[in-house]
Amino acid sequence: MRRTERNIEAALPEKTAIVTPASWTQALDLAALYPAKQPLEVDVGCGKGRFLAARAAACPGRNFLGVDRQLARLRPADRKVVRAGLANVRLLRVEASYAVTHLLPPGTVSRFYIFFPDPWPKRRHSRRRLFNPGFRDALHKALAEGGEVHTATDHGPYAEVIRGLFQADPRFAPAPGFEPLTEEERTEFEMIFVRQNAPIARQAYRKASLRS
Ligand SMILES: C[S@@+](CC[C@H](N)C(=O)[O-])C[C@H]1O[C@@H](n2cnc3c(N)ncnc32)[C@H](O)[C@@H]1O
Repeated sequence: MRRTERNIEAALPEKTAIVTPASWTQALDLAALYPAKQPLEVDVGCGKGRFLAARAAACPGRNFLGVDRQLARLRPADRKVVRAGLANVRLLRVEASYAVTHLLPPGTVSRFYIFFPDPWPKRRHSRRRLFNPGFRDALHKALAEGGEVHTATDHGPYAEVIRGLFQADPRFAPAPGFEPLTEEERTEFEMIFVRQNAPIARQAYRKASLRS
């Protein structure tokens, strides 16, 4: 185990929020992961954690999980979380599709935030994009009833791909997109696009109840 990570079973002083699951093949034990049982929000591709730390500080009554595959991004996120003493945040270094498909217990996530996912603009790279039908299905399974997926991107064609995926699926209904309430709730990438005056497409979809 790396020095910056801790096993979630271990009761240690909070020197890092980066956790290593007891099992990489079974769903996370959320009760063991957080001090309090409360709604779970997941920041997929959380990067350096600017949004995650701000949102978690503003919402102590919710638990937050930041997922990113790059340790170089997760470490600054960890420093923000530890510095702010945010007991309701955990960070996981893992590929996001894998995390959503295999590590999140079904029906447990009240919100996903997926802000500025890599757009892979070259046609031959487009299959590397996070959003595809399998990922949408995994999001649906992990969401609690009424839970929401919030997305933002500066990349128009990718925004249309995301829109098409969710609009084609009757298990989701459109919902109001997330608007940052404070400057701190703008992600690192959003700050760049705001400076460039680039348009940002925000979309959200709610897990619809199919009961009549
Ligand atoms: C463009 S950055 C956006 C970061 C942050 N959400 C923001 O808006 O500032 C995309 C982030 O997603 C992470 N990422 C991209 N693909 C991923 C994947 N398949 N699994 C986990 N993380 C991924 C990258 O490491 C990077 O930190």
